[in-house]
Amino acid sequence: MYRTHTCGELRAENRDQTVTLAGWVQKIRNLGAMTFIDLRDRYGITQLVVEEHSAEEVRRAASELGREYVVRATGKVVERASKNDRIPTGDIEVVLSALDILNASQTPPFTIEDHSDGGDELRMRYRFLDLRRNPLKNAMILRHRMAHEVRNFLDGRGFLEIETPYLIKSTPEGARDFVVPSRMNPGEFYALPQSPQTFKQLLMVAGYDRYFQIVRCFRDEDLRADRQPEFTQIDCEMSFVEREDVLATFEDMAKHLFRSLLGLSFEGAFPRMTWAEAMEKYGSDKPDIRFGMTFRDLTDAAKGKGFGVFDSAEYVGAICAEGCAGYTRKQLDALTDFVKRPQVGAKGMVYVRCEADGSFKSSVDKFYAQEDLAAWAARCGARPGDLILILSGARKQTLSALCELRLEMGSRLGLRPNDRFAPLWVIDFPLLEWDDETQRFYAMHHPFTAPKAEDIALFDTDPGRVRADAYDFVVNGMEIGGGSIRIFDSALQHRMFRVLGFTDEEAEKQFGFLMNAFKFGAPPHGGLAFGFDRFCSLFGGADSIRDYIAFPKNNSGRDVMIDSPSTISAAQLDELALGIKPQRAE
Ligand code: AMO
Repeated sequence: MYRTHTCGELRAENRDQTVTLAGWVQKIRNLGAMTFIDLRDRYGITQLVVEEHSAEEVRRAASELGREYVVRATGKVVERASKNDRIPTGDIEVVLSALDILNASQTPPFTIEDHSDGGDELRMRYRFLDLRRNPLKNAMILRHRMAHEVRNFLDGRGFLEIETPYLIKSTPEGARDFVVPSRMNPGEFYALPQSPQTFKQLLMVAGYDRYFQIVRCFRDEDLRADRQPEFTQIDCEMSFVEREDVLATFEDMAKHLFRSLLGLSFEGAFPRMTWAEAMEKYGSDKPDIRFGMTFRDLTDAAKGKGFGVFDSAEYVGAICAEGCAGYTRKQLDALTDFVKRPQVGAKGMVYVRCEADGSFKSSVDKFYAQEDLAAWAARCGARPGDLILILSGARKQTLSALCELRLEMGSRLGLRPNDRFAPLWVIDFPLLEWDDETQRFYAMHHPFTAPKAEDIALFDTDPGRVRADAYDFVVNGMEIGGGSIRIFDSALQHRMFRVLGFTDEEAEKQFGFLMNAFKFGAPPHGGLAFGFDRFCSLFGGADSIRDYIAFPKNNSGRDVMIDSPSTISAAQLDELALGIKPQRAE
């Protein structure tokens, strides 16, 4: 028998029992007469003791131990003289009568502690060691529990979990596909799904009116803290529903997760905001509404006083940072440097300090009288002691830069604590997005998203103004999920493809299977998908989804532990009828 108990289990009630534990050596303290060993497994840490009068073999084994050795230890549970209230097993220790080394370990390349001394890359290379640490272990437990609660909830609502294929067909919309060559069909490729979108719609045609799947998705796109090339969705679809049915169901699911995993209850419905309002007030389609500081449009008020920068700007927008009038020159310069970063993209920043005596001090005093600044302050709802920060330029870029500045100020002022959650539905997205480079429309969500019924008339006259019956679930500025009501009529789907620049032949070749299915009795349907990794990292209070994925890729899309991607042999290439082009010189 390897063990009678786990390393997290023993308490004072177990005193005098003879127990056997197995696990990894966390720490050894040799005090001459006595040796203390911290033994760790998934469940916790238990202190083992080897005494001066312990058996010779036990003392010898103890003297050979190193960090991360795997051992089996048998002994008697005794109450500790000095208790350790930081660990649940801190009232007891196990005085050993037997100690077997089951496996030795090399010295680990970094410490297996809550705060490790290992850098990112090293810990990724030895992910199996990193996963022994508490923060990652807790992340894996949270992930497991969330999956479990999702299944509980959706099962209770009559959803069926149905798997869809991973080897599918490459489609040109969305992100880039990962492709897989087919040996049996030389020269042809499968694609890995970016999501099960078309399959879940086919399941609706098949009559499975409530589907879900916790499913891996693959996208060959540039990576960020909240993006992995393979990630997991909680993918859902329902038939005979309108937007309100979908939102109500998944708002309930989100509330269930908040309650069961974090013990948090939300009163009333989650707030909603249209896409247009989100862009106007927050410069983002995923606003962080944990704090205010919404944008105020000063465009008309700022023009015509001889300040060229504002006079020539398409948009002048401000935020008001409460109580920040005392910001020093140095702090303001730091903010200016921040907005000038290429990722933020502003050319400069104008500030107005609202002084305690009711006067104003600004970086553009030369051009604006006190009354002008007072008018700006009134529009911003600023009070004495506040600081107004202003950016200007082309509308779209300025809204986006102001969004970054707002988030930066929110962080600086401690208004974005990661244990506060502000969920939000963003609704009424535009259906289409114009791309200047390719001179065509793209589907903002995906080509199967239905236009809002009242906007269908605009389809042929002003497609850019058509709103979609699409929605995103946003929490704390992170897009956690998104979905839509779908087109279920093959004629409308055809029209959509035409607006997207597909010829009928191209549409037929790419999506004929779906439009064909729509001819056999497609029910009205809609759904959404949550980013499961993002949901986990949100709940865990982490910045990166990586910590919630057991074996993630690094920022270059590499798995540095197994060293992938990697080349394949000439024989494998041959079998796949593939050749590698020589790399073009840079
Ligand atoms: P969408 O593309 O919005 O919708 O994806 C749904 C959710 O998946 C998460 N997500 C990601 N998470 C980690 N890494 C990535 N690279 C990544 N990309 C997306 C986000 C996002 O909100 N089929 C539609 C859903 C639908 O219409 O039902 C879809 O895939 O949290």
